[in-house]
Amino acid sequence: MQKITIAIDGFSSTGKSTVAKQLAKHLEYIYVDSGAMYRAVTYYAMKYGFIDATQFDVVGLVSKLHDIVVYFELNEKTGSADVYLNGENIEIPIRTLEVSNYVSQVAAIPEVRYQLVKQQHKMGSEKGVVMDGRDIGTVVFPDAELKLFMTASAETRATRRYDELTLKGDIVTYNDVLHNIEERDYMDSNREDSPLRKADDAIEIDNSNLSLDEQFQKILKLAEAAI
Ligand code: C5P
Repeated sequence: MQKITIAIDGFSSTGKSTVAKQLAKHLEYIYVDSGAMYRAVTYYAMKYGFIDATQFDVVGLVSKLHDIVVYFELNEKTGSADVYLNGENIEIPIRTLEVSNYVSQVAAIPEVRYQLVKQQHKMGSEKGVVMDGRDIGTVVFPDAELKLFMTASAETRATRRYDELTLKGDIVTYNDVLHNIEERDYMDSNREDSPLRKADDAIEIDNSNLSLDEQFQKILKLAEAAI
C-alpha cells in the first residue's frame, strides 16, 4: 500500500503525541515526536549552563549546536522510541516542567530550528511517517497528504498535563502547569521563525469532549481516506 506523510500540529498538551503514536502503530509507520528534539536541545542548554535564569534567556548556545546529537532509539520495554542526547537516554528528564519552562525560548532560535528541521526531513524522507509538533504541516512537510491541527481548551489541557506529571511523581501545582501552557502557546504562536499556526489545508480537531478512542477512530478514518 502507498505510504503517506501525516503531520499533526497544535497547541501544547492537546494530546498530539498520544494519537500520533496510536496511528503510527496501527499503520506501521514511524512516529517522530519533534517536540522531544527541541526539549533535548533545551536539556543540553540547561545542563551546560546556556540558560541565563535571571534574564530568562538563552545565551551562547548557537556556537555549540554542532556538539549536540539528538536521536531516537526503540525502548524494548515500552515499545516506543526514547530520545537520546549524545548517548544519554533523556526521555524522562526532558518531560519536566523545568524543561517546559525554557523550551519555547530555545525553539525560537532560528539556528536550532534549522538543525532540527534538517534531521526531521531525513526522518520523513521515505514517507510512512507520523510527525507531531508546531510547524510540521506548515514548514517541515508542507506537502503532507494529511494535516491535522489539534485544539482543546487551555483548562482541559492543563488538567491532562497536571495529571500526567503528578502521576509520574513530579511536584507541581495546577496553576504552574496552566501558566506554562499559556506562556508556551503565546511564545510558539508569536515567534518570527515558523510560528505555530494552522496550515490552510489542515483539518482542525477539537478533542475537549472526545474520548481517546473516539479521537483515534475519527483520525484513523481521515488517514485511511488520505492513503
Ligand atoms: O510537543 P511538545 O510540547 O513536547 O513541544 C515542546 C516545545 O517545543 C513547544 O512548546 C515548542 O516551543 C517546541 N516545538 C517547536 N516546533 C515543533 C515541536 C515543538 O517549536 N515542531
